[in-house]
Formats: sequence, C-alpha cells, structure tokens
Amino acid sequence: MVKVTVCGAAGGIGQPLSLLLKQSELITHLSLYDIVNTPGVAADLSHINTQSKVTGHVGAAQLEEAIKDSAIVVIPAGVPRKPGMTRDDLFKINAGIVRDLAVAAAKFAPKAFMCIISNPVNSTVPIVAEVFKQFNVYDPRRIFGVTTLDIVRASTFVSELIGGSPSTLRVPVVGGHSGVTILPLLSQVKGTEKLSQEQIEKVTNRIQFGGDEVVKAKDGAGSATLSMAFAGARFALNIVEAVVAGKTGIVECTYVDLEADAQGASGVKSLIGGDLEFFSVPVELGPEGVKKILPIGEINDFEQKLFSAATSELKGNIVKGSTFITEGAKL
Ligand code: 2OP
Repeated sequence: MVKVTVCGAAGGIGQPLSLLLKQSELITHLSLYDIVNTPGVAADLSHINTQSKVTGHVGAAQLEEAIKDSAIVVIPAGVPRKPGMTRDDLFKINAGIVRDLAVAAAKFAPKAFMCIISNPVNSTVPIVAEVFKQFNVYDPRRIFGVTTLDIVRASTFVSELIGGSPSTLRVPVVGGHSGVTILPLLSQVKGTEKLSQEQIEKVTNRIQFGGDEVVKAKDGAGSATLSMAFAGARFALNIVEAVVAGKTGIVECTYVDLEADAQGASGVKSLIGGDLEFFSVPVELGPEGVKKILPIGEINDFEQKLFSAATSELKGNIVKGSTFITEGAKL
C-alpha cells in the first residue's frame, strides 16, 4: 500500500496538487486532510479512473486517521502572502500549523517522507526537523523543503532568453526559498554564456522574486497556487518513483538538513561558509530519501556574491524555525 497524505488539501495549492497526484498509478491511497471541505474534494477526485482510493478528513479530530501509516506526507497547508508581504511575514500563522501537522506525522507516520511546501520554507523545514527530533524519530534523509518551483521558474525564464525547450532545460537553483536566499546557478547552464551581465542579473532577480510577480498579479487573492502545485507534484512524484518504484538516478534540488549525507555535504559547506544546517542542494533520491548530496559545482564571482548575500538571512530563518520548537511549549 502506498498512502500519500496531502495536508491542506482543500486549499489553493492543495486541490490542484491532489489532482496531479491522483494521476499516479503508483499511489494506492490518496488521503486528503484540511480544516474544511475535504469530503467534497475527495468525492470529486474519487470519480477519476486511476487506481488510488481517495479519502477526505476534516479537522484535528480526523488528523490521526488522515495521516496514519502514510508513506509520504505533503504539506501545502497555511496562509498565502498578500502584496507587500515577505514569506517570513507568514511565520506567525504557518509555524503553528506546520508544527501541529509535524507532531501528528511524528506520532502516526514516523517513517513518512515529508515534503514541506508551507512558507516560509526556510523556517518550516527546521520546525518539522525539530519536532521529529523531540519524538526521537528524526531521519534527515526523509524531510524535504520543496524548492522545485524556483527550478521550474528558472527553466521557464532562462529558456525565454536562450531558446530551447523549457521542459528539458535544467537550471540548478540552490540555497533557500525566499528572495535573496534563492541562488540560481546560471553559469552552469549551456547557452547562458551568450547573455550579457545585465541580462544575467535581471533574470537572476526575476527567479529570486518570481513569487512576488504572482502575488502582485493576484492583487490580494493570494500567491502562486497552480505553478506551486505543478512543482510540488513533480517533487512528490519523484519521491514516489525513487522509494516505491526503485527508480535510480533521479536528481532534484531540495532544501534539506545537510546531515542527510555528511560526506556529500562537506564540499557544499566549504562553499557556503560551514555553519548553515539547511540548504537546498542537488540531491540524488533513493529508497531512503536522500541517497547522496551531489556537489554544487563551479560557481563564478557573481554567484559567489549571491551566496554571501544569502547566508545571514538563511541562518536567521533556520534559527527562527528551530527555536520555535526548542524554546516553545512542550509538545
Ligand atoms: C512561491 O514561490 C508560493 O512560495 C511560493 O510563489
């Protein structure tokens, strides 16, 4: 049985994400959890003729049955940004939501692969990690911050400039998932050598602040939902392929505890200054989740400057997330 639970399944990201997951023949049970409306979403999706059974669960009293024995838990729950807000402004509300879902996962699905979408991802992933530590079920190879939308955006925006197919153009994006912590490595992409430094800087900024473009265009109605669902489903389905179907050679950039592969992380640490616990890095996925952290590769002087600008913000985000649990009320 392969049970995948979506927490926040009735929301703007959760619904299209659940639809995309319903298309997988590798998932046998799609469990939809939210504080409202999941029975309707579940009934609707259950008419689609793919093999997974779909169940809907509403409210804290049904969280245990929703999450119990899940192989994979995907968390897009929480509130989105409004114009003028940063992802960090969401911490006050989303931190508690993610903590409560992590507690349920630590108790009822401690072996699940956790895919965290809720913002601010730079802080919510450390929250989930600390909760799992408190319940003595922490395995850094199983907890992932989903930064795939940055990679998806980078492929789209860069291919607009250099041509080629956006769906096959791979642009590595490392670091975190907010503003200056998002680090696109354009120098590693063939074809970008024909771009001027001005074009490189402009498209780098567009990738870093791509989320704001959507927030602004939605004008108060939220942030990216459809592209986020696409990216979240791509990541979760890659996990399914790696852990359920045993597919090898799947590589995605994702925000993980660098302890997930201490050996692989050592090269990364020398590049980022050594004291960041979490960083989005290219990861080879395997049956246990993180199989290997791959080298970030060569970066140029411009990218080195971006790394330096990212470090202190990312460090603050990580501490904010982990101390929310370590200095918070007893779980
Ligand atoms: C974004 O990058 C919602 O964080 C998401 O647009």
